[in-house]
Amino acid sequence: MASDSFVPILTDSELKEGQIIRVQISGRSILLIMKGGKVFGLSNSCPHMGCSIDKGILREYLVMCPCHGWKFDIRNGQYEENSAITLVSYRCKIQNGKVYVEIPAEA
Ligand code: FES
Repeated sequence: MASDSFVPILTDSELKEGQIIRVQISGRSILLIMKGGKVFGLSNSCPHMGCSIDKGILREYLVMCPCHGWKFDIRNGQYEENSAITLVSYRCKIQNGKVYVEIPAEA
């Protein structure tokens, strides 16, 4: 049984390998990226100057912000030049043909 905090957001056929999709969940703009058969979820707001990253370029496991080229590892959200700077990561899973994103409970 799925945990209540996982929200179904897409069917798995809507997200192709290497594709970046922006979704809105509970007021959060989130990137979903399919890579290597897994789905990665990241905040869509670049920690540099707040640009949306959904129009960025994906190379292997790095997504590049379209504004000034900062690159982030989609597996953990880390900025490649300073691991102390990260995009918020969201756990994702594919189950029964749907893509789920875990939204943490509000504090
Ligand atoms: S806003 Fe993303 S690199 Fe500058």
